[in-house]
Amino acid sequence: MRIIRVENYEELSKRAGALLAAQITLKPNSVLGLATGTTPIGAYEHLIQGYESGDLDFRAVQSVNLDEYEGLSGSDPQSYRYFMNDKLFDHVNIDKERTFVPSGRAEAGAECVRYDELIESLGGVDLQLLGLGRNGHIGFNEPSDVFPAGTHTVALTESTIQANSRLFAKAEDVPRHAITMGIRTIMRAKKILLIASGADKAEALKSALYGPITPQLPASILQLHSDLTVVADAAALPEAA
Ligand code: F6R
Repeated sequence: MRIIRVENYEELSKRAGALLAAQITLKPNSVLGLATGTTPIGAYEHLIQGYESGDLDFRAVQSVNLDEYEGLSGSDPQSYRYFMNDKLFDHVNIDKERTFVPSGRAEAGAECVRYDELIESLGGVDLQLLGLGRNGHIGFNEPSDVFPAGTHTVALTESTIQANSRLFAKAEDVPRHAITMGIRTIMRAKKILLIASGADKAEALKSALYGPITPQLPASILQLHSDLTVVADAAALPEAA
C-alpha cells in the first residue's frame, strides 16, 4: 500500500489526476475503472486540462464505471452516466461508445451478468479509481455480513441516501436501489487508486487502512490488494491516524 497524504482537496485532485494521466500515457489503451461522487471531480478536471494542453490522448481509452442508480436513464441529470458525460467524457476525445456504465433501466439481474461479462471481455480493469463512503463503502458495496463478489443490485443504506441527497432536490428523490460492481470485480483491477477528502471520511479511512478486514467496512479489503495507492488530504487522514 502506498499512501500519499496531501494538504488539501486541490492537491489531492492534482496528484490523483497525475496518476490517472500517467496510466493513460504509459498504456494508451487502458481500461479505466471510474467513480462518480464529489471527490473525483477535481481529478477529472486535471485530465481535461491534460487533454486540452495536448498532453493526453483518450482515443484508445476504454472505461467502466462502478455503479448506477436503478431506474434512472442515462439522460437523467441525476444518473451516473450523465455525471460522467458532464464531468469528463464530453470534454475529452474518448470514444463514448467505449465508455460503460451499468444501465439503470435494464432488467437488473441480466444487467449484472452482462456487466461482469463485459468487464471480462475488455480484459479487466487496469486502474480502478475509488471514492470512499462515510460508512466505508466502495462502489455501492455497503456494510454487510459478506463481501459481495460480482456486479449486483443493492439497497442503499440510510446514511448513503442522506449523504447523496445533497445532489437531489429532496431526500425522497434519491433512488433506494443501485447496481454496483462487486468486491471481487473491484479487487481484480490491476491497480487501485483510492481517494478521500474531508474530515467526514477520516474515521472510515482509518478503519479501512489500519482496522480489521471485515465486510462491515467494505473498503478494508483493499488492504489485501497488491497495488493500492491511497491519496488523502490532511482532513481525511489526520497525522495522528
Ligand atoms: C461513486 C461511488 C461511491 C462514492 C462514495 C464517495 O461512483 O461508487 O462509492 O465514491 O460514495 O462519494 P463522494 O466522493 O461524493 O464523497
